[in-house]
Formats: sequence, C-alpha cells, structure tokens
Amino acid sequence: MNANLMVASNAMDKIIALCKRRGFIYPGSEIYGGLANTYDYGPAGTELLRNIRNLWWNNFVHKRDDIVGLDASVISHQEIWKASGHATGFADAMVDCKNCKLRLRADHLTERSTKKKVEGKILEELEKIIQNSKDLVCPNCGKHDWTEVRRFNLLFPVNLGIVEEDQSLAYLRGETAQGMFINFKNVVDSTRIKLPFGIAQLGKSFRNEVTLGNSVFRTLEFEQGEIEYFFDADKTNWEELFDEWRQTMWNFVVEELGINEKNLQWRVHSDEERSFYSKRTEDLEYKFPFGFKELWGIAYRTDYDLVQHMKFSSKDLSITDPQTGKKIMPHVIEPAVGINRMLLMLLSDSYREEEKRIVLKLHPKLAPYKVAVFPLLANKPELVEKAKKIYKDLRKNFSVVFDDRGNIGKRYYSQDEIGTPFCVTVDFETLENDTVTIRDRDTMRQERTKVNKLVSCFQDKIS
Ligand code: GAP
Repeated sequence: MNANLMVASNAMDKIIALCKRRGFIYPGSEIYGGLANTYDYGPAGTELLRNIRNLWWNNFVHKRDDIVGLDASVISHQEIWKASGHATGFADAMVDCKNCKLRLRADHLTERSTKKKVEGKILEELEKIIQNSKDLVCPNCGKHDWTEVRRFNLLFPVNLGIVEEDQSLAYLRGETAQGMFINFKNVVDSTRIKLPFGIAQLGKSFRNEVTLGNSVFRTLEFEQGEIEYFFDADKTNWEELFDEWRQTMWNFVVEELGINEKNLQWRVHSDEERSFYSKRTEDLEYKFPFGFKELWGIAYRTDYDLVQHMKFSSKDLSITDPQTGKKIMPHVIEPAVGINRMLLMLLSDSYREEEKRIVLKLHPKLAPYKVAVFPLLANKPELVEKAKKIYKDLRKNFSVVFDDRGNIGKRYYSQDEIGTPFCVTVDFETLENDTVTIRDRDTMRQERTKVNKLVSCFQDKIS
C-alpha cells in the first residue's frame, strides 16, 4: 500500500473505531456476521443525524418563504421509475473476480489505474482498460482474473402482497426527488406557492450499491436532503439561479456546519459522467480521509422529469401563468445532499488528536449532547442528588447526559470523544453556595457559575 493510502486508511480506521466505541455508528446486523454496506446509528450518532437534519430543514424550509416540505412514500409505483428513466438507465458497470468472486464497480477499479474519474465511460472502454492493465489486481486475492464488465441496475424491487402478479412489482425509491415531481401538481393545487419555488424532502433512499469500506460514505440505504427548485425558464436565467444555489450550499457547509473551507472544492461533471437527466451537474466535494469526494450535488434537470411523468401518466402537469394565461412546464434546479455523508464529513473535520486526548470539535449546536453533568464523587449521596436535580432541570432545554462512573478525568475524556461542549461538575462548594464548575471542551478551562444562571449561560454559548 502506498504511504498516502496508508495514512488515509489509518485516519479512517481511527474514526471508525471512535464511532463504534462511543455509540455513533455500528456495523449493520453485526451479531449475525454483518451485512455489507449497511450500518446502524447508536445513541450519539442518532442525535448527531437528527441535529444535521433539523439544521437543514430549518435553513431550507422554515427560514424560506419560497420552499415547502414534502414526505413522500418510500415504496413507489413501478411506472415512476420507468418514466424517470431509472428502471433502465440507473445502472453501475460491475466486474467480478473469477478467482475469489469479489464484485466491484468497474469504474472504481479502473480509476486506480487511470488516477482520474472514469464514471460514465462506456462498458467497452472500461473493459479494455481493465483487461489491459495487469496491475489492476483484485484487492481481496491479488489476482488479475476479471469477468467481462456488466451493468447492474441499482433500484431495489419489492413485491407487494396486496396486488396481483406483474402489478405487484414496485420499487424502493432510488432518490427522494421523484416524490417531488409526482406531487408537483398536488403541492401547487393545495398551497399558495408561486413560481419560482422549491419542494424539499428529507428521507431514505435505497440503491443496490457495491462498495468497499469507507463507513457510511456509500451504503445501500441512506438519507437524502433534496430540493427541487421549480422556475419558468422564460423568466428566470438558469445559470444565475444555478450559481445562487451553489453559493447557498457552500455557505450552509461553511457557516452552519462549521467546515473548514480548505477541505472543500467544486467539481464539474464531464459530458460522459453527467446523469441522463441533467444539462449541467457540479459536485461540492469534501476532502474525506480517502480523498476529495462528492458531498452535495447540484443539477439542472430542465423540464425532463415533469415532461416524462406527463407522458407516462397522461396527466397534465403544466401550470398556468396567472398573469398571461400561458401554460408553463417548469424547469428545475436540484441541490441534493446525503445526510449520512454530512455526518461522516462532520466527524472527519472535527476529529483531533491532542497530547492527552481525542476530541471531536463539533459546533455546539450539532454536538449530540450539549452538556454532561457529573457529581464529583459517586459515593456521596448529597452530591449525586444535587447533580441529578441539575441534570433534570437542564434536560428541559437541552440534550444532556449524566455520568457518575470512574473519576472526573475519565468522564471528561469520554465526553471529549463524543464532542460534548460543556461539562458541569457538582462538588462540595456547590452545597455551600449553589455554584458549579463548567468545563469547556475546546479550551479545557473551567469557570464557576451560579446554578440558576446555567440555562441562560448555555443558551448563549450554544447558539
Ligand atoms: N436526485 C439526485 C441524486 O440522487 P445523487 O448524486 O445520486 O443525486 C445525491 O445523490 C446525494 O446523495 C449525493 O451527493 C450523496 O451525498 C448522497 N448519496 C448518493 N448515493 C449514496 C449512497 N449510496 N450512500 C450514501 N449517500 C449517498
């Protein structure tokens, strides 16, 4: 393994180990030997995911008067995916190792030799590169003995028990986006929203992906945050709107999530790589421990999806301009992000190894727990009782944990690894003058504060 790859896998291994140790992410179906590319989120990971989701929703739905929310069904009619083109066009090129049967994405394997993106290359070209590059050996068994390159569709079919025969085929959605297109007319008819406007959705999508490692970066089941921003292409310049959205995405990652700008870059999709439905696509990439990779995509999908659904459903999905009476088939710009990828980015960006500790320097508003409360000694009932009271009071306003195990040093150490920004310790002085110490995660400095000032003090520090 070359030195760069080794550093990357070490950094990733350390993050993965912390995630397991502190309850962020566990391997899926672990007690049964695991299930590839599936993960479960533990108590800390669940809180972090929820905080990311809430921040996204608050920014893109609650704080805007031109975007409304939607929560569409995961199980969806087969015609949706025929109309969208996914039933035929949503496929990855795969190769199998004939020796050990490992299955890999042909483009990922090829990129190891070409050192550049080859996504979207036709099967024959990938096949040629793989067969001619004898250094492209199987990462599992080391042999160069590949099958021909074949296409595998990524959609998960499901069979419904409530309808007959071929009508029973449905799909788990491969993107949340289609929910917005098929409900476009419902939203227009049931709200007062006018073009240009967006429909936003947060929810699970499913893709039959084959990948190796890198934790929750690419999984079978993942959560997307997608916005379909509809506009009249005769009135709105798509290039200006596209640039506005690019800026909005960048600002969210830097200002709201607190990510270091040095670890971000834009990458424009080549004609070969771009999805079949898009006229222009760019990825906002984050520098993960395994290199710059897509975090958040933005695509100009034109009126492709609405036109396709109109054809397949025979329903009129155009809207009428209230001023001119003209029929409009809106075009769409789509910023689409993976919530789980945002979580992995936050863990990577905030992970620090210091002299005596490992610490997650998450922004306090994202940290799974805002405050941890400790009694100085677990065997002094008067300290435990007072600490429990403070814990219960703070719980009304923040997510708080209580810990009385081990010594104070160990408790700080574990809260640092979870990213808890503040620790409150109840000691003997508390019983005399109703003050506690607050220890700051980042500076490790302690200050004494009156118990009745704690809520307002944390409200200031966390916002
Ligand atoms: N509607 C457009 C669309 O779905 P995409 O680039 O395929 O575009 C959008 O997905 C985002 O969803 C990606 O930028 C990525 O963050 C996330 N994503 C896609 N596939 C994923 C997977 N298998 N596991 C985790 N996240 C994924």
